[in-house]
Amino acid sequence: MKGELLLLSSVIILLQAVCGCPEKCRCHSSSNSVDCSQQGLAEIPSDLPPQTQALHLQDNQIHQLPAFAFRSVPQLTTLNLCNNSLSNLAPGAFNGLQHLQVLNLTQNSLHSLESRFFHSLPQLRELDLSSNNISHLPTSLGKPWENLSVFAVQQNQLQQLDRVLLESMPSVRLLLLKDNLWQCNCRLLGLKLWLEKFIYKGGITDGVICASPDTWKGKDLLKIPHELYQPCPFPSPDRESSMVQQPGSAHRAIPRPPESHSAECELKPKPRPANLRHAMATVIITGIVCGVVCLMMLAAAIYGCTYAAITAKYPGGPLAQTDKPVKIEGKELFDSSPA
Ligand SMILES: *[C@@H]1O[C@H](CO)[C@@H](O)[C@H](O)[C@H]1NC(C)=O
Ligand SMILES: *[C@@H]1O[C@H](CO)[C@@H](O)[C@H](O)[C@H]1NC(C)=O
Ligand SMILES: *[C@@H]1O[C@H](CO)[C@@H](O)[C@H](O)[C@H]1NC(C)=O
Ligand SMILES: *[C@@H]1O[C@H](CO)[C@@H](O)[C@H](O)[C@H]1NC(C)=O
Repeated sequence: MKGELLLLSSVIILLQAVCGCPEKCRCHSSSNSVDCSQQGLAEIPSDLPPQTQALHLQDNQIHQLPAFAFRSVPQLTTLNLCNNSLSNLAPGAFNGLQHLQVLNLTQNSLHSLESRFFHSLPQLRELDLSSNNISHLPTSLGKPWENLSVFAVQQNQLQQLDRVLLESMPSVRLLLLKDNLWQCNCRLLGLKLWLEKFIYKGGITDGVICASPDTWKGKDLLKIPHELYQPCPFPSPDRESSMVQQPGSAHRAIPRPPESHSAECELKPKPRPANLRHAMATVIITGIVCGVVCLMMLAAAIYGCTYAAITAKYPGGPLAQTDKPVKIEGKELFDSSPA
């Protein structure tokens, strides 16, 4: 009897552990979602149901995430941490989230990101880092985010964004970059070229508005002509310099690295044949104009000679007697002569 009671109570405790819901959260077992939003939480609740797939922690005061913060919920596909006080993420904070697809970190106080935060998120599809205080992003990720289709960093302090980072997101379709401190100098040229190709292939972006230098302040990066970009003084090894090159322009001085990327270049018109065509057109037009002028001069010479011959034939002729000495046509000459 005592043993049975013990068994029963341990089963109940086990059931509670499996099906229980943290005190301040609402658990929806049908959708495997847990809503702990707006509860003034300072940390992740410890007793989350392990089968949780969507975890809503927005509008709390969570200020840091320790390593393996979500160890108890390995099935998570959606994690919303919007409007918390996160300034600090432990490097392994998201470890173990093999299935996470949507990570929302908007409205926090993050300053920077390291690629290793996200190493453990192979299935990530949407990453929203908008409205933070991020001033730099990693130049590359350890391995590409194959499935990432939405990347948002609106309203941060970004000045630069390396195209290598974007190249590691081959599936990205929506890129939100508005409201940063974009420094539209030579180092942003890589981003410009990448974005042109991205839009050409159907990608959507909300635009990069330059915050500096003064020449480009308030201008859309995509509307600045390539030709007006100055090459970076020291060609960086990340092949940005090859992109600066514009045949026929002043940038030719920079040597093109051997692995130049024809893919990037194919969107740009090739100026050389256009120049040749232009030159030929100029030659033809000049030729025609010269020919016409020569013919006119010849006609004028013939006319002049004939006229001289006529006036020589009638010395002191009608020309001297008329009231209107200038520009008398041949016809008038004969009409007025008998008068
Ligand atoms: C952010 O969360 C706080 C509670 O922590 C809430 O009072 C505030 O309205 C939320 N802000 C937004 C923009 O939702
Ligand atoms: C993240 O949350 C914010 C605020 O609720 C929302 O506007 C935004 O669309 C979310 N981002 C994603 C990728 O779902
Ligand atoms: C990307 O998504 C597909 C389909 O869901 C999946 O099979 C693949 O493993 C994902 N890629 C990575 C790197 O996880
Ligand atoms: C954002 O960062 C800047 C410096 O990079 C700092 O001056 C500012 O106070 C920060 N703002 C917030 C809300 O953390």
